[in-house]
Amino acid sequence: MNGIRFPNGLRLEQLRRDHPRRKFRCGVEEVDRWLSSKAFQNQKKHLSATKVLVDETGNIAGYYTLATGQVDFSDLPAEAAKRLPRRSLPVAVLAWLGVSSECQGRGLGRLLLAQALRDCWQAGKTFAFVAVILDCINDKAKSFYQHWDFAELPGRPYRLFLSSKRLAAMMGDDAGAS
Ligand SMILES: CC(C)(COP(=O)(O)OP(=O)(O)OC[C@H]1O[C@@H](n2cnc3c(N)ncnc32)[C@H](O)[C@@H]1OP(=O)(O)O)[C@@H](O)C(=O)NCCC(=O)NCCS
Repeated sequence: MNGIRFPNGLRLEQLRRDHPRRKFRCGVEEVDRWLSSKAFQNQKKHLSATKVLVDETGNIAGYYTLATGQVDFSDLPAEAAKRLPRRSLPVAVLAWLGVSSECQGRGLGRLLLAQALRDCWQAGKTFAFVAVILDCINDKAKSFYQHWDFAELPGRPYRLFLSSKRLAAMMGDDAGAS
């Protein structure tokens, strides 16, 4: 999964104050509201980082937000926790992802997710974490993520995770996957 290429005319940019984030609509109000009122402020405070996919007219076709977090050792499935210390463990968090209603169903969600995971993998070479986790907003979002290798955390059906080992394998990184 190297070099994510977006269709011509679309470019990925770090969220800036002048992006028209209040116009973005993806069909889930919470996802729109995060972009319009929280994403930039949180980025300024170094709490999360948001990238937007901008079209030729400057409108936002999609976005994702990444952050860091922690999970307790006991939250992980036994297989994933094997050989990990029994304490809080660092994770990357895919906090938000959305594609504008008019652009949905054209593969952009898949490409944005691929890029978000790639960002995580690259960051993990400097600031290590044991898994990428995310909270699904609804069943539709859950089935979107389960297309990929995300698995449920025990007892938390809407919290999904992808181990760093699996992430490395997806990225073709043999050293990180072994
Ligand atoms: C979920 C979302 C990001 C998908 O974006 P998209 O650009 O429409 O998705 P894609 O066209 O890239 O589709 C990718 C794959 O997921 C599937 N898919 C797309 N939307 C789906 C959905 N809502 N439920 C289940 N599967 C879905 C597609 O069939 C496709 O499968 P394929 O690769 O086997 O063909 C988009 O529908 C969205 O923004 N929804 C509202 C916000 C949201 O739910 N965000 C996620 C939680 S924060």
